[in-house]
Amino acid sequence: MNNRYYITTPIYYVNDAPHIGHAYTTLACDVIARFMRLDGREVMFLTGTDEHGQKVEKAAANAGVAPQAFTDKVSQNFRSLAQRMKYSHDDFIRTTEPRHIKASQALWKAIEASGNIYLGAYEGWYSVRDEAFFAEEELVPGPGGKKRAPTGADVEWVKEPSYFFKLSAWQEPLLRYYEQNPLAIQPDSRRNEIVSFISGGLRDLSISRTSFKWGIPVPGAPEHIMYVWLDVLANYLTAIGYPDTDSPTFKRFWPADVHVVGKDIVRFHAVYWPAFLMAAGLEPPRRVFAHGWWTVEGEKMSKSLGNAIDPNVLVDRFGLDALRYFLLREVPFGNDGDFSQAAMIQRINSDLANDLGNLCQRSLSMIQSYFAGVLPKPEHLSDRDKTLLEQASMLHQTVAASVSRQALNDALQEIWRVVSDANRYVDSEKPWTVRKTDAVRAGTVLYVLAETVRQIALLLQAFIPDSAGRILDQLVVPADQRTFAARSSQLVSGVTLPKPEGIFPRYVTEETGAAK
Ligand code: MSP
Repeated sequence: MNNRYYITTPIYYVNDAPHIGHAYTTLACDVIARFMRLDGREVMFLTGTDEHGQKVEKAAANAGVAPQAFTDKVSQNFRSLAQRMKYSHDDFIRTTEPRHIKASQALWKAIEASGNIYLGAYEGWYSVRDEAFFAEEELVPGPGGKKRAPTGADVEWVKEPSYFFKLSAWQEPLLRYYEQNPLAIQPDSRRNEIVSFISGGLRDLSISRTSFKWGIPVPGAPEHIMYVWLDVLANYLTAIGYPDTDSPTFKRFWPADVHVVGKDIVRFHAVYWPAFLMAAGLEPPRRVFAHGWWTVEGEKMSKSLGNAIDPNVLVDRFGLDALRYFLLREVPFGNDGDFSQAAMIQRINSDLANDLGNLCQRSLSMIQSYFAGVLPKPEHLSDRDKTLLEQASMLHQTVAASVSRQALNDALQEIWRVVSDANRYVDSEKPWTVRKTDAVRAGTVLYVLAETVRQIALLLQAFIPDSAGRILDQLVVPADQRTFAARSSQLVSGVTLPKPEGIFPRYVTEETGAAK
């Protein structure tokens, strides 16, 4: 088995205040990174901030400060969010760091040395908000007869000397790459979009600007600064030591296993990026996975609508694990989703409080009250006992397959199928009645339940780490027995379990008035 795993988030524009859309991308990567670590892989999980470009330069000017001072201040918002969300990233990169300036200039030189860069002049439409060039035919009509980018952003006419990347030369190699590696862009719908975009013909790409200053100077031509997407994409190489391609870290982690990105930035990652890499003699990433967008109560989230949801507020109100669970369970990863407090409360109450919370609480409480907290010894195992135990121990295999496809919502559904089976098992085995006539049988049932909960909690550590950790604490599972490799060892009968505490509170909604 390949024992390393390199996963990245997009790095965030510092000028925006972080909202749940940003929190979502990193959260999904965090789950995958934690899962892979628990599964014994050596993981590199990278996130950070994108700090150059015209958009940031303008935002700094509006704030009346120098761009560096501006980015030093606002990038802190993303670092604070990362702390609050307890992301397990191994590195937080900022594109204004010297290591990144060095790496992106080295990437430029490698592309140049291969004959893929030439000097020309750019004349055309540019959208500062998207930091992207658009062809005339891509523009859409906007208010007042003005043309707009397909994303709805304003465009301006730009005319300046510029270096170009020979993207047109990479059309065939890219198509070949995607034909040979059909999973290199996921989901399939995104791959089809990108393949048809490439098949439609690629124009050479303007990769330097001269009309503003806030960026990385082009090596040997400092009056030009590098196009911000070439600068920022290079971050994925910087963090593993580029340009030192002989270093053990670089050799170990490149190519990246997956770049997780939002659907709006697939073209940069799945067309420009692999072409830059191939031109520089480097392998393209193994996969680009594009997730969907969150709307809020049916509306696009935006500063101007004032409806952007601050993840900090949700963590304060519902707790971090509830937010993690909701965002990953509510929509299949790859689809769009709509955020509403009512939907979140509904999920928390039904899946966390009712299904998982009840399973843990009643199993552990019965051990407490019928066996004075001492984990009973299983005696003769019935077919039903064996079936449930087997389902629980097989769960790792199905969940691991889903996580490696980034199908996080499938993974949670698979886990919850066993949670439901275990709840049905308690209902039909009725240990509260059986114990009056057959304490040994009741003890066996409770052991089977505790063991099932252990298997479930082991896997859930990747998704809801604090809560899963507390469940394992209540089962007295030692710290060194919490990796997935330990799933084959079993709970030890005779151990005294602490008095169980409820882990998932229920919430009252105004609409339902459901009991707390
Ligand atoms: N700086 C670039 C990325 C460079 S990566 C080499 C960028 N930054 S961003 O801050 O605008 O967006 C970062 C990520 O947040 C993107 O993946 C984007 O899709 C995601 N989201 C922003 N708003 C979102 C929602 N409303 N919903 C889900 N994700 C969203 O693009």
